Amino acid sequence: MRKKVIAGNWKMNMLPNEAIEYINQLTPLVKDSKNEVILCVPYTDLFYALLTAQNTNIKIGAQNMHFEEKGAYTGEVSAKMLKSINVEYVIIGHSERRQYFNETDETVNKKIKAAFENGLKPIVCVGETLEQREEGKAVEVITKQTELALEGLTKEEVKSTIIAYEPIWAIGTGKTATSEDANNAIKEIRNKIEQIYGKEVAEDVIIQYGGSVKSKNAKELFTMSDIDGGLVGGASLDPEEFSKIVNYDI
Ligand code: 13P
Repeated sequence: MRKKVIAGNWKMNMLPNEAIEYINQLTPLVKDSKNEVILCVPYTDLFYALLTAQNTNIKIGAQNMHFEEKGAYTGEVSAKMLKSINVEYVIIGHSERRQYFNETDETVNKKIKAAFENGLKPIVCVGETLEQREEGKAVEVITKQTELALEGLTKEEVKSTIIAYEPIWAIGTGKTATSEDANNAIKEIRNKIEQIYGKEVAEDVIIQYGGSVKSKNAKELFTMSDIDGGLVGGASLDPEEFSKIVNYDI
């Protein structure tokens, strides 16, 4: 049985004092959950979030990283740097980074490899645009993105990768994919992984849904056969709302 993994992506929100207060509020609300709880926070919150989440079941992740270990890359942060302060997870290839910051399938693949080399667990985002969907190309786009992202990884690494299927048209728009559509898209991603890495890997890999997940739709989405939890943007900014998403099964 795959476990459910619910991750909040705060994006460019929350100052350190707000992060501390948030985590203190969230802690008692999710302490009994058997689902994995992750908060992916801005770089400036990481250290405070890690300290505040110590001795809780809340894990902390970053939202991006560079694939090089060090060097003349002004403004960038490496996997080694994240690992040095005990960050556990890192989002890679979020559509906002692909759209605004020139992230490509190639850099995504390099970043995932660097994350594993440094003991970080990547949460890798794939998803189609509205135009691609309307042209009937959604499956082709997301399976190709998955294939290129995972290229050259070992089976064990693929098993430890979290994939987040986030249709771009559903992000921050209030439009959610229907649970059937999301489940079918995730099945296609799982099939692609099975073709390349075998059935055992495909059955173990966690694949989340992301895009306007809220407490109102979490249960319907997360109880589908292939949806292993969610990557939550806007609704993760309020600890109470986020706790209801984490506790969708209680
Ligand atoms: P929203 O939940 O705000 O639609 O954002 C989804 C997302 O991009 C999570 O990474």
